[in-house]
Amino acid sequence: MRVLVVGSGAREHSIVLAMAQDPEVTALACAPGNAGTAAVAEQRGLDVTDPAAAAALAISWKADLVVVGPEVPLVAGVADAVRAAGVACFGPSAAAARIEGSKSFAKDVMTAARVNTATSEIVDNPAHLDAALARFTPPYVVKDDGLAAGKGVVVSADLEVARAHARTLLDDGHPVLLESYLDGPEVSLFCLVDGATVVPLLPAQDFKRVGDGDSGPNTGGMGAYAPLPWASPSLADDLVRTVVAPVAEEMVRRATPFSGLLYAGLALTSAGPAVIEFNCRFGDPETQVVLALLRTPLARLLHATATGRLAEEPALQWADAAAVTVVVAAEGYPGTPRLGDVITGADGEGVLHAGTRRRDDGAVVSAGGRVLSVVGTGTDLTAARQDAYRRLEGVHLAGSHHRTDIALRAERGEITVPAP
Ligand code: AMP
Ligand code: GLY
Repeated sequence: MRVLVVGSGAREHSIVLAMAQDPEVTALACAPGNAGTAAVAEQRGLDVTDPAAAAALAISWKADLVVVGPEVPLVAGVADAVRAAGVACFGPSAAAARIEGSKSFAKDVMTAARVNTATSEIVDNPAHLDAALARFTPPYVVKDDGLAAGKGVVVSADLEVARAHARTLLDDGHPVLLESYLDGPEVSLFCLVDGATVVPLLPAQDFKRVGDGDSGPNTGGMGAYAPLPWASPSLADDLVRTVVAPVAEEMVRRATPFSGLLYAGLALTSAGPAVIEFNCRFGDPETQVVLALLRTPLARLLHATATGRLAEEPALQWADAAAVTVVVAAEGYPGTPRLGDVITGADGEGVLHAGTRRRDDGAVVSAGGRVLSVVGTGTDLTAARQDAYRRLEGVHLAGSHHRTDIALRAERGEITVPAP
């Protein structure tokens, strides 16, 4: 099987590495990729927002399977174009990707599917903002209604901070979503979905805030771990039954069935699990830990999902181990990152590349806000944490920053689901 992976982050590096281990894979390409994927896969240039260009590449490279990593190409219709060209594609249609691309669409689907989520209100007129905010209590949750790479959300107890963020979004012409605050630990549940068939992967947790102790602004994700030692063993199955399967069925009912990876981001609140968001693709950085533990060959699994045969696949196999990833971010991230700095140690084991590129002189340099995602594994979270942070010591990037507390509270047994 010839597999073409679209995207250029550590998620795609992790997908490419898992594909390389599948004996069914005979050729591998990544477009546009980064300095890390280039070491394992052929590199092809691609504007990932151009569906026709993606389909043309799939044909010319003779791909048997295209796997689309990021949300932007999916929302733009890359999966539709690739499928229309007759190539199997792992990733939803643009119509189904709206579950991530429009938070108000996602709310509408959840209401129809009777899935628990935060109460919310859309504001598209600045004159209505203050009255709308007055209908909520602190902490305020203010979101960009469209795609914002995880950075469009402000959660603050300070009304002025909430109002200022909403105003900035509205001034830029973006509708704003106000939400009630959901308390409790967060879970990222990735599910392979093929119409009404839903197969969950291991639940994981990611760290959205930039600083230790969940301080500072939201980012695309600064680290992740799996499995969740504090969660009930039935968590994934419970969430499939109460959240993901009803949503998948609602998408089928609307004649926009979801095919690909449906990511439910949830808070386990005292009133039960509640959805924070749906994403239409593998999450980054959770994919780096989930795929580090998956033993089932990935290409076959994603091909089966893409071609409507997921229900025929045997149960997934997982390593009896834990994985932790720590993101190394460029100076300035999540604001404007400093780019072009030389990275050393980036070819070490477990070092996945995100924003990197190889310069003409062979040096690997930073080329994005999240630069690397260092993955450690071990028999338990303690060992996996040690492995990740030990590997991180071998990496150097001037001005970079990372969190030192990824999976620490879980390791210490400090995470609990609030009692009803
Ligand atoms: P989102 O872009 O919707 O995933 O939000 C990013 C992050 O903001 C989430 O992972 C949460 O940590 C936080 N967040 C979003 N919505 C809420 C909410 N309703 N209640 C509490 N935290 C939230
Ligand atoms: N880990 C968060 C995301 O991928 O959106």
